[in-house]
Amino acid sequence: MNERNTLKINQDGHLEIGGADAVSLAKQFGTPLYVFDEAYIRRMMGVYRDTILKKYDGNGLVLYASKAFSCQAIYRIADQENIGVDVVSGGELYTALQAGFPAEKIYMHGNNKLDYEIGEALDAKIGCIVADSYSEIDKIDAEAAKRGMVQTILLRINPGVEAHTHAFVQTATTDSKFGFSIANGTAEKITAYALTKKNVKLAGYHCHIGSQIFEKESFVIAVTKVMDFAAEMKEKLRFTMETLNLGGGFGIWYTDEDRKIPPEGYAEYLEALIGEVQRKAQEHDMQEPFLLIEPGRSIVGEAGVTLYTVGAIKEIPGVKKYVAIDGGMFDNPRYALYESKYTPILANRATEACTELVSIAGKCCESGDMIAVNVSLPKAQSGDILAILSTGAYNYSMAMNYNRNMIPPCVLVHEGKAEYIVRPQSYEDLNRNDVIPERLKK
Ligand code: LLP
Repeated sequence: MNERNTLKINQDGHLEIGGADAVSLAKQFGTPLYVFDEAYIRRMMGVYRDTILKKYDGNGLVLYASKAFSCQAIYRIADQENIGVDVVSGGELYTALQAGFPAEKIYMHGNNKLDYEIGEALDAKIGCIVADSYSEIDKIDAEAAKRGMVQTILLRINPGVEAHTHAFVQTATTDSKFGFSIANGTAEKITAYALTKKNVKLAGYHCHIGSQIFEKESFVIAVTKVMDFAAEMKEKLRFTMETLNLGGGFGIWYTDEDRKIPPEGYAEYLEALIGEVQRKAQEHDMQEPFLLIEPGRSIVGEAGVTLYTVGAIKEIPGVKKYVAIDGGMFDNPRYALYESKYTPILANRATEACTELVSIAGKCCESGDMIAVNVSLPKAQSGDILAILSTGAYNYSMAMNYNRNMIPPCVLVHEGKAEYIVRPQSYEDLNRNDVIPERLKK
């Protein structure tokens, strides 16, 4: 089966994740449960890091896009693997700093960073802020001046590449809340503006063309456009791009409609980007920029599996069979948001052949609360442990307490043993911030 991410079926016919039996994990920790395979995460971080080392003389840094999965342990792993991280909110920044992540390797994103987030980033002396508006540049400049410092920034620009992916996760087309367009001249204008600021050092550009993209071409075209633009800015504004951040977006396997790429295969994507950066640098007689990439999904996505217990089963003759689980859109809202597809496996009967088409329903009071629609499974029974594969990215990080369901805990498997990296929520946690005004008290 899925040998790419250390998933296998053991002698008991159970699904194993990173050497841990899924059925035992469900017993030990309960369900729903997010399970992460540490070895896979490290392998992915290592592939990107080593590619920059070997193919680009180490003149760059991998930033793990922590929006994909943020908790203190993942920042520890990123630190140990000698990579940087990107954060997109004060909360992610705080989590990284609490985990002891080195501030100089933190890059901050966001199309509308709040004043306090900019202040926190400056106070922490993070490596770089990726600016995305005029007002933000003004604020960074003013706050840096107050602190007697100069803050390094990149500008988010938009090469206008149409990536073949779900429209909701495209971020670089012309109509986007992110970035400044190369094509309509706004990227040039904001470059000139940033260069007038005393307490801001413009180091270069950032672009990100979208997510869950398999087409190498889309990434390469974006590099071509950004490098041509940088050459133009050198000519027109005498601005030298020292740093280039190419964002994330590499696709992963969710179902057999997707490409299966072994961890080492992702090196090819990065090599293609590097090749184009070098080709263009030579063509335009520019220095090769310090190179950043920001993969999120491809680092943690296939490293994660969610375990559920099957509950009610409801068959509507001639229509559908619903297999309900003890989780749902509160731990994985991706079907509700994007109609994302997933592959389920009965973890306790993993060798059994699939005999029916079912739809996996969550427990929320909402018809759209589904995890997967029309998927094949062996005949599921109440009490079976159902695993949904490739849930490591954008599941826990997008989880919520809808219906006052508790966000499941996360465990990290290391050499076959699992331990909590995010503890379970309790009913008390759900009520923690509630206040009953005096006049409503019983
Ligand atoms: N850099 C920037 C500036 C980004 O906006 C993103 C993702 C990344 C890096 C990481 O991209 P990745 O390598 O993970 O594709 N919630 C959606 C995904 C939203 C992606 C947002 N930006 C989902 O569940 O599919």
